[in-house]
Amino acid sequence: MNQPRQILVTSALPYANGPIHLGHLVEYIQTDIWVRFQKMRYPASEGHQISYICADDTHGTPIMLRAEKEGISPEALIDRVHGQHQRDFDGFLVEFDNYYSTHSEETRRFAETIYATLKRNGLIESRAIEQYYDPVKAMFLPDRFIKGECPRCHAKDQYGDSCEACGATYAPTDLLNPYSAVSGAAPVRKESVHYFFKLGKCGEFLQNWTRSGTLQDEAANKMAEWFEAGLNDWDISRDAPYFGFEIPDAPGKFFYVWLDAPIGYMGSFQNLCDRLGLNFGDYWNKDSSAELYHFIGKDILYFHALFWPAMLKYSDFRTPTQIFAHGFLTVNGEKMSKSRGTFITAESYLQQGLNPEWLRYYYACKLNGSMEDIDLNLEDFAARVNSDLVGKYVNIASRCAGFISKRFDGQLMPAAGPESIEEWSLEQAFIEKLDLIERFYEDREYGRAIREIMTLADSVNRYVDENKPWEIAKNSDLSDKLHIVCSAALRAFARLTILLKPVLPGVAERVEALFNWKLEFNRGFSWQELSNLPISKIQPYQHLMTRIDPKQIEALVAANKPNLQATEPAPQSEQRHAQHQQHTIQPIADTISIEDFAKIDLRIARIAKAEHVEKAEKLLKLTLDIGEEQPRTVFAGIKAAYDPAQLEGKLTVMVANLAPRKMKFGLSEGMVLAASDERGGPFVLFPDEGAQPGMRIK
Ligand code: MSP
Ligand code: ZN
Repeated sequence: MNQPRQILVTSALPYANGPIHLGHLVEYIQTDIWVRFQKMRYPASEGHQISYICADDTHGTPIMLRAEKEGISPEALIDRVHGQHQRDFDGFLVEFDNYYSTHSEETRRFAETIYATLKRNGLIESRAIEQYYDPVKAMFLPDRFIKGECPRCHAKDQYGDSCEACGATYAPTDLLNPYSAVSGAAPVRKESVHYFFKLGKCGEFLQNWTRSGTLQDEAANKMAEWFEAGLNDWDISRDAPYFGFEIPDAPGKFFYVWLDAPIGYMGSFQNLCDRLGLNFGDYWNKDSSAELYHFIGKDILYFHALFWPAMLKYSDFRTPTQIFAHGFLTVNGEKMSKSRGTFITAESYLQQGLNPEWLRYYYACKLNGSMEDIDLNLEDFAARVNSDLVGKYVNIASRCAGFISKRFDGQLMPAAGPESIEEWSLEQAFIEKLDLIERFYEDREYGRAIREIMTLADSVNRYVDENKPWEIAKNSDLSDKLHIVCSAALRAFARLTILLKPVLPGVAERVEALFNWKLEFNRGFSWQELSNLPISKIQPYQHLMTRIDPKQIEALVAANKPNLQATEPAPQSEQRHAQHQQHTIQPIADTISIEDFAKIDLRIARIAKAEHVEKAEKLLKLTLDIGEEQPRTVFAGIKAAYDPAQLEGKLTVMVANLAPRKMKFGLSEGMVLAASDERGGPFVLFPDEGAQPGMRIK
């Protein structure tokens, strides 16, 4: 028997203002598989205690603004999202022992205690800093809420920390013509007192800690870069208005969301302890012998490998045992994209009727212990699931179970001994691979675990193919043989199920029912059944899994294209450490500011000339007078609806500052406004009487 282990596992806390998507699920499925494996390997019945906790990350400016935009309180927003997140996690069989919220009394209490202790230990300092302030909205602006012109390439409308056009990174103060993404107003510089955590003082501790086996090699190397760049003090306060916890001795100042977010792990666990009667201190005290593991994405390494251990260390708590960072999801080799329909939400996946265990299986195939990105190739996804799960794994049961039910009243032949060589070696193959597969799960090398498991499935199928139960079933003299073959194959199938159970818990439950397991033993399969499997009969076989029809995937992608989708904006995140910014974050998703609008130079234009363009099917060439010396030439796709003669002399509206575009027929220097949709068009816009060429629209 193993020494009882106490293990606490976390996944990063998703922001409470956006839906769970397939990118998030890489992490939650990865962690869930690991926890399920540990729970099977170290069952509670033997004294082990394994807990998997998470929570919504509820504080910060984006959440505050999002609630405001919806006209509801932040509390109402985070309540609603909590329900949605919980529903999505349930749908994908991600089984937390507690799914809580950072907006909780437990988290507040720990945040206050940790802050007070850090302060007592001389690690908090306050000083005034100058920042951009939105005078209209009366609030300080996080970097991601300031936009302007890139100082390097002059691209317009770039965020305050980096340029999407040329990739430059800079401070928001470097932006040219900055404006607030919240109100559109020009921000002003304003001073205010901020509180800082003196990370620089934790350098020696952190250097040792990050090199003591707590991080993957790639992560430790990343740390080394950061140490070299020097550890800056960390600004942990924000001014009101802010949705978060007010700092006890600093009215009007709030803890920055990233201070209380990881503390939310403690809050959630405390809440679980209160429910189950566990001892919080056993897990979090300085001298704790419990294990603490954080699964995170590589984008939030800085917070978990520097700030978090330093905060814990200097507030007299234990530090994490290990941090497991994973890479980012790409779909068909590219970043998830709304316009391509690959920004797929968990909800839409389930609503389209796709099986969550298909995705769990595919992610498992792709996952390893590194920080490499993982790709969901939609074609490969269908092929892999169909060939492995349906073609290899389920196939064993569907070929053999029927004979046992019909011919042998559901009774299995007891396991064979070494004298029955074929069946015996089939069993031995499992025993031989057990340690290896176990280690692969432990090391998060799920792809390698799956490969081993599928190799075993191949050997079982080979056994069935060679013995051809469907043939021997025709010969009543071979009834014993039929019984032996189908029993051995089903026994192997049960073992495959146990090995796959961390990945496919739903299928495993149905297989447990098939073998009458729950009724007899009053629990699910656990790891120990791999060496001693007391199964003796089966229930009538029910189909376990269907194939993926590629049409389902087409429908899923179509459902996630913007025009068909409900107007749910992209998840909004707080500004992250500039060195590891990974996401494209859209502070305001579906409105533009008045400043944005003012950038469009709309003018009344007189159509001086309208002509057909040779060989152009849709275009008319317009010569437009907008009160400037030179008339403009514009090619407009309106030929189907207008005769040139009908247009000449009329006034219309044009976009005068659209970048000129070279077309096959010449240069187009703007655009005229016309409306159309499936009901008809184009309908050119004509201004009311009195308008004059060159007048501006504002
Ligand atoms: N709220 C913070 C975490 C606080 S933890 C104390 C946050 N939230 S998040 O919603 O943006 O992301 C939650 C987790 O999902 C993070 O670990 C993040 O790395 C992961 N992922 C989000 N998008 C992802 C992909 N596209 N691919 C893989 N993981 C991704 O960060
Ligand atoms: Zn640029």
